[in-house]
Amino acid sequence: MAKLLGNLNYAIILGVLLLIVVMFGFHGTVMAEGYANAFFRYLHVLVGIMWIGLLYYFNFVQIPTMPKVPAELKPGVSKYIAPEALFWFRWAAAFTVLTGLVVALLNGYLHQALMLQSPYRLIGLGMWLAIIMAINVWFVIWPNQKKALGLVDADADTKAKAASTAMIFSRTNTVLSLPMLYCMVTQGLLGQVG
Ligand code: HEM
Repeated sequence: MAKLLGNLNYAIILGVLLLIVVMFGFHGTVMAEGYANAFFRYLHVLVGIMWIGLLYYFNFVQIPTMPKVPAELKPGVSKYIAPEALFWFRWAAAFTVLTGLVVALLNGYLHQALMLQSPYRLIGLGMWLAIIMAINVWFVIWPNQKKALGLVDADADTKAKAASTAMIFSRTNTVLSLPMLYCMVTQGLLGQVG
């Protein structure tokens, strides 16, 4: 068991097998909406958790802890952990947007939601908040982190400025994530969507 769970790929395969059992063994009836809708909704939540989970890791763990880390150990975070975390972070953000838009499309309200029209105003607002957050990730946080972490050449002054900009936008995303998540989980309770 330790061998199986010690390997991330095997652990993921195990999770997927259990997922298939749940998807096809525990439904009772095939959903009227079809599996595509359910599956994209599921994928959306999965990649959304990866994205926001890493956002919270940066804001609740890494950023507050870095000042306490002895100087000689800091490269362990900046050269190894942070670049890896940022890889999953930015791609999870992209796939969350993509799968979220597909869910809205499959439910037939993409246009109405993006136009903030009733009864999809709430999910529309959530979508716009998350789109702004994803833009922050790709066009502000990631380019600035590349400079701050030394993945591209920059002088000490530019590095310090970039780190501060990345931090402020990461905080902004943490702030926006609170109302955004409320919009995501509440639209389905309003009774107008299947
Ligand atoms: C631009 C990005 C996003 C778009 C376009 C989007 C779109 C959507 C849509 C259309 C729904 C279905 C609402 C309904 O009909 O009930 C939904 C639900 C949901 N979204 Fe997002 N979303 C985005 C970002 C996020 C993020 C970052 C998370 C973080 C985890 C998230 C988590 C959820 C959850 C938990 C649900 C509820 C699923 C359910 O109740 O079945 N979304 N989203």
